[in-house]
Amino acid sequence: MSDNVIEKNDNDGIVTLTFNRPKALNALNSDVLKALAAHLSELEGQANLRAVLLTGAGEKAFVAGADITEMRDKTPEQARAFAAQALSTIKRLERLPVPVVALVNGFCLGGGCELALACDWAVASDNAIFGQPEVLLGVIPGFGGTQRLPRRVGPAMAIDLVTTGRKIDAQEALRIGLVNRVMSQAELSSYAEELTKQLGGNGRQAVRAAKQAVHDGLDQDLDSALALETSLFAFCFAGEEQKEGMSAFVEKRKANF
Ligand code: CAA
Repeated sequence: MSDNVIEKNDNDGIVTLTFNRPKALNALNSDVLKALAAHLSELEGQANLRAVLLTGAGEKAFVAGADITEMRDKTPEQARAFAAQALSTIKRLERLPVPVVALVNGFCLGGGCELALACDWAVASDNAIFGQPEVLLGVIPGFGGTQRLPRRVGPAMAIDLVTTGRKIDAQEALRIGLVNRVMSQAELSSYAEELTKQLGGNGRQAVRAAKQAVHDGLDQDLDSALALETSLFAFCFAGEEQKEGMSAFVEKRKANF
């Protein structure tokens, strides 16, 4: 396995993972998935972790999909194993206890779009292109796209995209709710600093509990999900962050978490 198929940069707990196969537009092969799993094993145990950003090396692509060259000769059993490897890794990424953000800096197709969909939110450069073009290759999305895309953009738009395989630009991705914001390449490359400022003054346990409430709640009926929120809200009062945060407000000073 090549060592640097994913580059890692850690700026005081704001970790950027950069998919680094620019000659193949950062396509996801087995080596990349193994490297991602190895990074996740480290991140899952990192106490000072505050956020994880995903992006692609070069100016052309975030990730242009699963590696078609590697997939071409797979049997159904091998295809099933490849998808299972990707799905379990992507699920671990989704469930990291901190915000996970896709910085989409170009082509974001197939497995790349599915990766972005597993992130808590995505921001795109104005030249980004999105799509689930698998039907053009005689297959369907295999890394979660048929399930996460309708949950993000609604079933009608999801079926439009997965059956036509058409590509959409950053503005359309923004309009349908696939990404939260569109910015220039330069702004995208300084997004880590912006996020550092945004998360910097927040209680870390509160941020983790907020993400957990949304994710776990989405899998439940509304009453159960609201009960979960109540439990997590009450749990916050057992920690020091709530005492500090509310005392700081009352004492008219900045909270020190
Ligand atoms: N897998 C393997 N190699 C890829 C790739 C992919 N998904 N996407 C691009 N590449 C390679 C190209 O083969 C080319 O390699 P060579 O220079 O060795 O020929 C290199 O990256 C540059 O690509 P292009 O020359 O094609 O660049 P372009 O600017 O003309 O086109 C593109 C860019 C429109 C993104 C085009 O590369 C493309 O259509 N790529 C495939 C996109 C795709 O179909 N993705 C879905 C894959 S299937 C999937 O992801 C299934 C799933 O759900 C798991």
